Amino acid sequence: MKKIGALLICSVLLFSMTGCGSAASKESSDSDTSEQAIESIAESGSEMVESAEDDNDLAESTEQDVEEKTAVVCFSATGNTMAIAEMIADETDADLFEIIPAEKYTDEDLNYSDDECRANKEQNDPDARPEIENDLSAVEEYSTIYLGYPIWWGTNPRIIQTFLDIYDLSDAVIYTFCTSGGSGIEKSISDLQTLYPDLQIVTGKRLNNASENEIKEWVNSLSD
Ligand SMILES: Cc1cc2nc3c(=O)[nH]c(=O)nc-3n(C[C@H](O)[C@H](O)[C@H](O)COP(=O)(O)O)c2cc1C
Repeated sequence: MKKIGALLICSVLLFSMTGCGSAASKESSDSDTSEQAIESIAESGSEMVESAEDDNDLAESTEQDVEEKTAVVCFSATGNTMAIAEMIADETDADLFEIIPAEKYTDEDLNYSDDECRANKEQNDPDARPEIENDLSAVEEYSTIYLGYPIWWGTNPRIIQTFLDIYDLSDAVIYTFCTSGGSGIEKSISDLQTLYPDLQIVTGKRLNNASENEIKEWVNSLSD
């Protein structure tokens, strides 16, 4: 924009100088008019520069809106996974969000030795989507998400699917983590990747009783 302004000023100067040379005897009102024209072009040139500067300000503020931000999002029925979530949030300087079920899980609900317990019934029903109590729409603005859950019957609890169905995380890189009685996280990752092919669910780790150092190592390994 600055260049265009400068070019315009030069053209007008050239034009007015040529005009002066060929008609030196012209009335002074003519040169007044040329001077006014130059002033007006110069002014519009500086306006253009100002407007370009405004555009730059706008670009900077847009860049800030899409800056790198990390969130840890966690569902935990009995606290094990939440303890890990807090450590990851500390380590990565992330904001922590809890997925809170609208209907809390009681001990009875979680008694998986009973076929009829609520958690087992939900896991046996592929369409079960336990309701979430809290608004988690803010997570859509994060570019990196650590998603944590306990393993239930070898995979993620259905409420994780409620979460992924509601919110659009297609722009985020997602890492999962879990705690469990012994099962690995792998099946839950492949289940989620199959169900949500548009999401970037990259990798994950079972982090039972992980130390700060183990969490640090894992988190650092993701950015290598
Ligand atoms: C309904 C239900 C099913 C579970 N299924 C498994 C399983 O398949 N494999 C396993 O290793 N642990 C299983 N567990 C144990 C939990 O994964 C484990 O206790 C976990 O640390 C609980 O995390 P939380 O305290 O964050 O809820 C199950 C627990 C529940 C309640």
